[in-house]
Amino acid sequence: MTKTIRAIRGFRDVPPEEAWKLRYIEDRTQEHFRRYGYREIRLPVVEFTELFARGIGEATDIVEKEMYTFPDRNGQSLSLRPEGTASAVRAYLEGGWKSRQGIAKVYYSGPMFRYERPQKGRYRQFYQLGLEAIGGEGPLVDAEVIDLLYRLFLAMNVDDVQILVNSLGCDTCRPGFRVELLDHLSGVADSLCSNCKRRMTSNPLRVLDCKVPGCQSVLEKVPVMLDYLCSECEDHFSRVWEALDGLEVGYTVDPRIVRGLDYYNRTAFEAVCDRLGSQNAVAAGGRYDGLAREIGGDAPGIGFAMGLERLSLIMNWDSITQSSPDYYVAAATSSARIPALDLGDRLRSLGFAVEVDLEDRSLKAQLRSANRMEIGHVLILGEDELSRGSVTLKDFTAKDQREIPLEEFMKEAMSAGTGPERR
Ligand code: HAM
Repeated sequence: MTKTIRAIRGFRDVPPEEAWKLRYIEDRTQEHFRRYGYREIRLPVVEFTELFARGIGEATDIVEKEMYTFPDRNGQSLSLRPEGTASAVRAYLEGGWKSRQGIAKVYYSGPMFRYERPQKGRYRQFYQLGLEAIGGEGPLVDAEVIDLLYRLFLAMNVDDVQILVNSLGCDTCRPGFRVELLDHLSGVADSLCSNCKRRMTSNPLRVLDCKVPGCQSVLEKVPVMLDYLCSECEDHFSRVWEALDGLEVGYTVDPRIVRGLDYYNRTAFEAVCDRLGSQNAVAAGGRYDGLAREIGGDAPGIGFAMGLERLSLIMNWDSITQSSPDYYVAAATSSARIPALDLGDRLRSLGFAVEVDLEDRSLKAQLRSANRMEIGHVLILGEDELSRGSVTLKDFTAKDQREIPLEEFMKEAMSAGTGPERR
């Protein structure tokens, strides 16, 4: 027998029962982004590997072991995008947007790819909604981005997400901190896990982010970047939280936030929810003033990306229902099949969502289907209706049934507008 082909591990199908939830999140989130002046950008799914290697950093987990990298037919190394920030900055530089506008505010939505160990809330193909404000370095940009994220969770009715904020300093203050940190870490190296020991040489800041319980207790007294900020970074950070306080944004300063991508400087933040378990970050981001320089330009920027599946996992879906079609057109006899399809088309042209039976089933079976699909209104066409130019309207909600002239019904439907807004 032919072997059945299955989906690749970590690459899941999102069936209709779940896809509408992701669509719901996308629609509302994008609307929210637009209210802050962000405009959509569509970015390629594949880029030169070098963009991510230089942008995200050679020594990061993403670049070291999580990218889907392959040569194209010319032998050039390409990678499926593991995130969107490097591409957005590349597009900004390549499109010459700098000369055109002040701060470029863009958002994107789509699949990202990382070869990670799949588990709850972690997939190899996952969906991100992200935004980037490129071209501004003032603290108000940071504050508005965090404020926007905070208010997004409020709008989505998710009230147990915590926003953790930190400053990662800059090229002036970070090297001094790194020396202090390494000094402290070498004193406790024997008690750290093998991953931390490896990171001590490649990327010591990431040691602070280790989730191994043994390491966490050893790292309790470790120095933190916040105590080593230069005066410019300190001033920038204090103006960020002054603005956040003024806007009454709920957030906590957490000196342990370090982020797993190398491009960050100054403000970094994560939105976490305990209900997600070990993969608790639903959104994360920060400032990346040096990223453009890594890829051949110069522009400060800040942004974040949110994991769509993770937000879906913590939303309260009980109070949000997927709308069912507005009408079911049932044919009581075979001569009414085509007229039923035609009536369906006429109603759809007015903006209604309509189901029509395509399987030649009995009237009883069609009514059962309408019920199962939770369609409140059924229109029945049979010999009598066809000969009288009428239609029988069965209203399940009002438990009412009446025969009306077809054109009168169409007029009523037309005055009901272009149909309810669809989800
Ligand atoms: P990130 O922290 O790598 O940052 O990812 C952002 C969010 O994407 C995470 O908080 C999580 O919700 C989701 N995510 C990441 N990996 C997975 C996965 N394997 N499965 C499911 N969801 C996942 C970035 O990607 C940066 N580009 C964010 C940014 C934008 N920084 C500045 N601008």
